[in-house]
Amino acid sequence: MRTVSMANPLRGERVLDIACGTGNAAILAARFGASATGVDQAPRLIEVARQRARHEGLQVSFTVGDAQQLDFADTSFDLVLSIFGLVFAADREKAFAEMVRVLKPGGRAFFTLWLPGGPIDEMVSMLVRAVSAATGSSRQAPEFEWHDASAVQALADRHGVSAGFHEAEIQFVAPSPEEYFANQADHPMSVAMRPALEATGTLDDVSAKALEILRSGNEDPGGFRVTSRYRIVELRGRLALRWAMGGWT
Ligand SMILES: C[S@@+](CC[C@H](N)C(=O)[O-])C[C@H]1O[C@@H](n2cnc3c(N)ncnc32)[C@H](O)[C@@H]1O
Repeated sequence: MRTVSMANPLRGERVLDIACGTGNAAILAARFGASATGVDQAPRLIEVARQRARHEGLQVSFTVGDAQQLDFADTSFDLVLSIFGLVFAADREKAFAEMVRVLKPGGRAFFTLWLPGGPIDEMVSMLVRAVSAATGSSRQAPEFEWHDASAVQALADRHGVSAGFHEAEIQFVAPSPEEYFANQADHPMSVAMRPALEATGTLDDVSAKALEILRSGNEDPGGFRVTSRYRIVELRGRLALRWAMGGWT
């Protein structure tokens, strides 16, 4: 995984994977020899993560918890990671503040976010709108968009860390759009969305629309390939600033 390689977890370092899902980044960090911990709000995913680590004979601590209120002491990790996870927290500033709080002075954090554009973004936006319509909930406008680099830069400045931005892209491939869509059924987002769509009898219609978006954005006429752009945000705890603000914490 590109972000974990960029973060380069070192043997013995304390690494936290926020919103770890089934533990991909934490497990990878543990393979590098780091002392890894993963936290996610979904107990079912944490159980899968534990089984995966056990299966590989890796010592990784997985725990259920909220990115907006981490149950870890201040300055306890050398490296904090969040792969398309932190950005799902409802209170964005709080989740960011928690990521910085648990980071050691001079420590580093990497988190990823999708950039707008491409068929997957179009499909997910359509699904979110459909679920909002099904549940009658109107999504409150967030304080800022994660893909707004100047807003994230301002956030980093407010929390006393430096920020660097790395653009990247990923291709999703499958034998066909239909197979790609079917394979997403177990994705945490699909699992979370399905009950609302089933309850309103809109699941089939919404699924057909999603498939149509995938078909029209398909880059490979003989199979299925779509490209999504994402950004890796790299944060560095500022030693001097923390010292100037009142000593080492
Ligand atoms: C797209 S998945 C990414 C999972 C994992 N990081 C990966 O790369 O496979 C997003 C994850 O964020 C988790 N999540 C969303 N909001 C959260 C919160 N406030 N606290 C903890 N986890 C959260 C979800 O349970 C889900 O596992």
